[in-house]
Amino acid sequence: MTEVSLFESDLLSPEVQSLLPPGYTLRALRSNDYERGFLKVLEVLTEVGNHTKQEFDDHTITITEDAKDQVVAVGTILVERKFVHKNGLVGHIEDIAVNNNQQGKKLGLRIIQALKFIGAKRGCYKVILDCSEKNVPFYQKCGFTQKEVEMAWYV
Ligand code: ACO
Repeated sequence: MTEVSLFESDLLSPEVQSLLPPGYTLRALRSNDYERGFLKVLEVLTEVGNHTKQEFDDHTITITEDAKDQVVAVGTILVERKFVHKNGLVGHIEDIAVNNNQQGKKLGLRIIQALKFIGAKRGCYKVILDCSEKNVPFYQKCGFTQKEVEMAWYV
C-alpha cells in the first residue's frame, strides 16, 4: 500500500532540507512513521502511552535518518483562526522532540525553522509556544522572545 503524507510537500522548507546533515530528510508525518519510531522520539518529552496508528495528529513533521529509515526528530504546528485581529491566524508549536542520541546536531533548530516556514506560508501573523525555563535559551536561538505567562488547568 502506498504511504499517505499528512499534508502537501510544498509546505516543507527547501532551505531547511538543504541545511540538514547528509542522510537526513525533512517530511510531513507519513502513515508508516508509526513503524519508524515516531512515538519513540516523543518519549524524550513525556509519557506517551499506547497509541494506535489512527490516533496520529495533523500538521506534524519529522526528520528521518535515511540509512536507518528511522524518525529521529518531530514537531507539530496547529493553526488557529482567531475572531480578533481580523480573523488572523496564529500558529501553535507543540511537542518538539529529538532522540536523545541525536541531540546537539541542530535537528531541533531545523524542526522549529521548518514549522515557522509552515506558519508563515499558511499566513499566520505570529507563532507561539510554551516551554520549560531550561528550554528558553534553545527557543531564543530559534528566534523566539519571551512574552506573557503560561496558565494551566488540569481536569
Ligand atoms: N540550553 C541552552 N542552549 C540549548 C539548549 C538548552 N537546553 N538546547 C539546545 N541549545 C542550543 C544548542 O547549543 C544550539 O546552539 P548553537 O546554535 O549556538 O550551537 C541551538 O540551541 C540549537 O540546538 P539543537 O542542536 O538544534 O538542539 P537539539 O537538536 O538538541 O533539540 C530540544 C533541542 C528539542 C530541546 C531537544 O534537546 C529535546 O528533544 N529535548 C527533550 C524534549 C524537550 O524538552 N522538547 C521541547 C519541549 S517544549 C515544546 O514542545 C514546545
